[in-house]
Amino acid sequence: MSASDGIDLMSESFFANPFPTLERLRTQQPVYFFEPYQCFILTRGADIEAVTKSPCFSSRRANEMLGGLGLLGADEASKEMLATWSRLVFFQDPPRHTLLRQLVMKGFTPAALERFRPQLASLVERALEKGRRQGEMDVVADFAEPIAINAIAELFALPEADRPQFMRWSKDLLKPAGVGVGTDEVRNSVRRTSNDMVAYLKDLVEKRRAAPGEDLISQFIAGEEGNLQLAGEAVIQSFQMIGAGFVTSTNQLTNTVLALLNHPEQLLALRQDPGLTRGAIEEGLRHEPAILSINRLCVEDTELGGTRIPKGRFVYAMAAAANRDPAVFPDPDRFDITRAHNRHMTFGVGAHYCPGASLVRLEVEEAVRALLTLPRWERVGRPYDYQGSNLQDRGPSSLHVRFPKA
Ligand code: HEM
Repeated sequence: MSASDGIDLMSESFFANPFPTLERLRTQQPVYFFEPYQCFILTRGADIEAVTKSPCFSSRRANEMLGGLGLLGADEASKEMLATWSRLVFFQDPPRHTLLRQLVMKGFTPAALERFRPQLASLVERALEKGRRQGEMDVVADFAEPIAINAIAELFALPEADRPQFMRWSKDLLKPAGVGVGTDEVRNSVRRTSNDMVAYLKDLVEKRRAAPGEDLISQFIAGEEGNLQLAGEAVIQSFQMIGAGFVTSTNQLTNTVLALLNHPEQLLALRQDPGLTRGAIEEGLRHEPAILSINRLCVEDTELGGTRIPKGRFVYAMAAAANRDPAVFPDPDRFDITRAHNRHMTFGVGAHYCPGASLVRLEVEEAVRALLTLPRWERVGRPYDYQGSNLQDRGPSSLHVRFPKA
């Protein structure tokens, strides 16, 4: 099979509905060489699990990834950006990864987040004001985005006035993974955004050092102090967490609402039994994940499913495909909020498992609970369109809904 067999992982139709293509790959060529990206695409759950556990595949890939996206020139801005990104927990292997992981997990335990629930519930209620008042809203701009940015901003105690700036920064940082990557303008803007955001956070960390609070920046500073190996990490890992937490959460919240709208019988079941809410959240994560893939760099020639993977190649482990693997999930294309044993791969597998998972679950749960207090939901306006054109993130750019009186 080759791209000329009708497999196009960069087409609009793929991003609108990637699942038929991913299924074809899984059944016909589960380890597939994708010429345009010169990388391997994996679609079987077992292979994805193997890759995340094998020392032949590394997470230390900042240089290769940024370089591959054309983001690294000889200029100072490129050097500064690489110096930051190569320190992110996301781009580490053990033992450095293990050390940084202890730092970033501070404050992200389920118990700590449970204490955050009342504050989150009031953020959600504030975001829903417009919908309640007008009887309609754009789920992305009016609801999911304010919840996602304010949740992360509250946890890190980011000043209220600067939150729109953080929203813009977070969106800009993801642009190189998307359509605009070809232009110098986008590349310059990503480098500038990364460096500006780090400069801002350096300043904020110093202010917090002088006047600590209960927030996560203060906790990162406390974790860093007295450990030379962690010097400066409060800035870098705050950048990582804030950058990683906005677009993903916005997309997951919207994807879950959309899945419920597309399956009215499931929405009705949820209305009749709110005890199904957690099941609905997990099924939203499995069936309509906010990410399509996880990637790794092959650092030692190896073999996977009978295919040779040479050192230096990237593999894209399609978590979205693993989530629909019939070897793991009976009737995998069915959206079923009562599904048992929902071990999806949306938050990854193993040592790099997403530290934000509990926060995302809490956000979507509180958002869905609040939406269920509104009478009937109905989609209006244009069909939703997916903003992405990359193998990483997935979510619609807008989703207009109306809440007619029941
Ligand atoms: C639905 C929303 C989200 C999804 C689908 C998601 C998905 C993922 C996945 C698949 C990984 C593993 C990557 C790998 O193995 O290379 C990951 C890692 C990570 N995520 Fe998330 N994420 C989400 C939200 C968040 C949020 C809200 C935060 C921060 C508050 C966050 C912070 C991180 C960080 C720091 C890592 C790196 C962890 C490590 O390398 O050990 N994510 N995420």
